[in-house]
Amino acid sequence: MTQIKKTIALLPGDGIGPEVTSAAVQILTDCAAAFGHQFEFRELPFGGAAIDSCGEPLPAATLAGCRSADAILLGAIGGPKWEALPLGTRPEAGLLGIRQELGLYINLRPIRVRPALIAISPLRPDRLADCDFEIVRELAGDIYFGKHEIKGQGSAASASDIATYSAAEVERVARYAFDRAMARGRHVTSVDKANVLATSTLWRQTVTALAREYPSVALDHLYVDNAAMQIMLRPKQFDVIVTSNLFGDILSDEASALAGSIGLIPSLSRGRVDQPALYEPIHGSAPTLAGKDIASPLGAILSATLMLRESFGLNAEAHWIETAVDRALERGYRTADIAEPGAKVSRGSELTAQIRSEMQQTLARQGGSA
Ligand code: IPM
Ligand code: MN
Repeated sequence: MTQIKKTIALLPGDGIGPEVTSAAVQILTDCAAAFGHQFEFRELPFGGAAIDSCGEPLPAATLAGCRSADAILLGAIGGPKWEALPLGTRPEAGLLGIRQELGLYINLRPIRVRPALIAISPLRPDRLADCDFEIVRELAGDIYFGKHEIKGQGSAASASDIATYSAAEVERVARYAFDRAMARGRHVTSVDKANVLATSTLWRQTVTALAREYPSVALDHLYVDNAAMQIMLRPKQFDVIVTSNLFGDILSDEASALAGSIGLIPSLSRGRVDQPALYEPIHGSAPTLAGKDIASPLGAILSATLMLRESFGLNAEAHWIETAVDRALERGYRTADIAEPGAKVSRGSELTAQIRSEMQQTLARQGGSA
């Protein structure tokens, strides 16, 4: 068994960010102790918290601390306190800034229904089936990073946002999607709006050309409106969905509802393989839940297991933790967002404690060492 030593930059951020990242840190610390790894956590200010303490959402020291880490774990950013600030200075600018600065052009959002939670999905079990797919969202281009402009005042005002893609930007993210599909069900669905948009026309041409390098992967194309419908109607048809930044943002929130709650979905953002990847739950900062210990820690904990697998190659450790998550859910532990009507509702910290206890019980069953 190889023991590893890694530095993890921790960006708790705002709202429920600090409490959910703290849950993930507890789990990772248990993991290090059980398997003899060393994880050094380096906590850095980010988002609204950094605006308050340093005057900007992405301080240079935070960026430098992330660059020199082996991986980054982010909680969430934003909240009403900073909503009145101009667009480019809000907590969200910190998130877009870190994506851009670290060259994080791939965003992976796995959509998996945990067996114990089938009943809380809004979709009937026969439609949901064993739905398990991945959304690969382009993260560094599109309308997010073009010029945003508002001109004029009152009824004379006008606004524009520019969407741009180069073939190279499309190809590098599509390549990642095809590689994921090769290791899964060998099916890529590319989502665009090629009946209207020039960027989508280029997107479709580029993905189609790249598909020739992957003859064993089936490729189909859906317009984004149809894709939104298909995700609800027949989610089982999907293996890997690849799409642009804006469409991926919208479709991943929709798809997360299939799993029962956006609070359950982790994500990976990465660029070049030799650069640190960033892991974050896709739920937001949920300011109304903050500090009350009612938010689900699962998105953050599953982001940590995604980190163990994807950045550190620790598959057994990730599996061990995910099994403990499923056992805790099978025993009926539920935070409010995933509780069936009438079910007992646990605090976030109670769910975390139960997962940790399940982890220890598996170790004990295996004879004291993993
Ligand atoms: C996400 C979020 C961000 C995005 C916001 C907070 C800028 O919604 O990560 O999905 O739109 O990318
Ligand atoms: Mn989003």
